[in-house]
Amino acid sequence: SSSKGPQSDDVADADGSQSVPVIGFVQTGAESDWRKAHSESVRDAAKASGYDLRFADGQGKQENQIKALSSFVAQGVDGIILSPLVETGWDNVLEKAKKRDIPVLILDRQVDVKDDSLYVTYIGADTYNEGRLAAEWLIEETGGTAKVVELQGTPGASPTINRFKGFRDVIADHSGIEIIATQSGDFRRSKGKEVMEAMLKKHGDDIDVVYAHNDDMAIGAIQAIEDAGKKPGDDIILVSIDGVRGAFEAMVEGKLNCTVECNPLQGPMAFEAMDKILAGDTADIPKKQMIKDEVYDRDTAKDVIDSRKY
Ligand code: AHR
Repeated sequence: SSSKGPQSDDVADADGSQSVPVIGFVQTGAESDWRKAHSESVRDAAKASGYDLRFADGQGKQENQIKALSSFVAQGVDGIILSPLVETGWDNVLEKAKKRDIPVLILDRQVDVKDDSLYVTYIGADTYNEGRLAAEWLIEETGGTAKVVELQGTPGASPTINRFKGFRDVIADHSGIEIIATQSGDFRRSKGKEVMEAMLKKHGDDIDVVYAHNDDMAIGAIQAIEDAGKKPGDDIILVSIDGVRGAFEAMVEGKLNCTVECNPLQGPMAFEAMDKILAGDTADIPKKQMIKDEVYDRDTAKDVIDSRKY
């Protein structure tokens, strides 16, 4: 964020007090440890940059998110940050914001809208590349032969769509990697466990690998695998995405084989962009800003676990 901060640019109110810009933040919910770190990062960065943040928790429902957006528009906030649960269905409510000249920054997940001018910029991870990295790691690890079950994220969410596609685009050239089952675990630990239990019942010893679209579902799957009397990490290989602390702990214990990082600490980037947007300085803001990800596995986890920030 700028060293000056937005408050110092503001004109004093009639009573002589400085007005602090108000930002409405519409979050997906609290489905995973990643999400909790993301919310905290946005809250901390808002505070550090001198904004008044109004936080709306979508609780896993697009309907709630749309209501919260409309209400922020009605309140006449200075700016909106949206982390959209799913990709589509945002055109109408974003039109409302545009009509009131309220700038919208899309954070973490992407939107698919007819008119890209409905938002100023998108900041988030390259989730398509994350799916590719998971597949590349797996091919290397297995020599290109494995029966895989996939735990997908929330249906219609951009990371679900992209991690699904990125993984398939890489394994397309490797006929020995076969996806034998795929189902949504909604990015949740409990759902990941539940879906894995059903998959183990149906496919039993056929399963070589679990590819989970996030760490929380992989951690749920680890529990299901142990309950079924198998050794996660050895009898069944697990690869997932996020790089949360629980994943590093599971790797150190040998139960998770690999995690592809997806950095949730996006608050500082978001408010750096918001500083510019509110200052009318949007010319050099790219339409898309992607954060770089790393791959960690059982061999590297021990060395980095203490330096992890989420
Ligand atoms: O949009 C990012 C995804 O949402 C994370 O991978 C997942 O853990 C979160 O719930």
